[in-house]
Amino acid sequence: MDLPPVLLSQDEISARVDELAAEIDRVYAEAGSLVLIGVLKGSFIFLSDLARRLTVPHRIEFIAVSSYGAKESEVADPVRLIMDVRHAIDDENVLLVEDIVDTGHTLAYLKRLFAAHDPRSVRTCTLLHKPDRTEEDVDLDFLGFTIPDVWVVGYGLDYAERYRTLPYIAELPPEMR
Ligand code: PRP
Repeated sequence: MDLPPVLLSQDEISARVDELAAEIDRVYAEAGSLVLIGVLKGSFIFLSDLARRLTVPHRIEFIAVSSYGAKESEVADPVRLIMDVRHAIDDENVLLVEDIVDTGHTLAYLKRLFAAHDPRSVRTCTLLHKPDRTEEDVDLDFLGFTIPDVWVVGYGLDYAERYRTLPYIAELPPEMR
């Protein structure tokens, strides 16, 4: 099988995840609680690498969302929750963990949703951000890489469920779609 070309190598990702974990450790050093909430499916590899580098105590939750198609993007909230956290997050420090922020709708929706549960804090962490695609602004408290508007796969990200377990992030050229 032909492999798509590297945009971010394993070494670059690993070094940046080290830095992000160190930043998160600093911010939550005195926090007393931290819940990492991974947004399935794309975040599963990033979250597992990030969480294993943290030294602050934390627990892990996963959620899943579904996005409406382009034609329905005029609806008030183009995202809906299809799998919730197992344990209540009231009185916790919540860190939403994403693989990529594209239009921003998913993370903006999730931030509103979890803020409504009245946790101690809600912050966001994303490995990748495509600012050229932003439709809805959301604060990115911890950000790995800003990337151009190209189709990326690998390290959790897919194209039609392929390439998720590539160990690096690749730019998928049109002829491979
Ligand atoms: C991706 C990504 C984010 C969302 C970001 O998920 O993991 O959750 O899209 O897009 P947005 O900023 O435009 O809202 P995707 O729908 O590809 O599902 P997957 O993670 O299960 O592959």
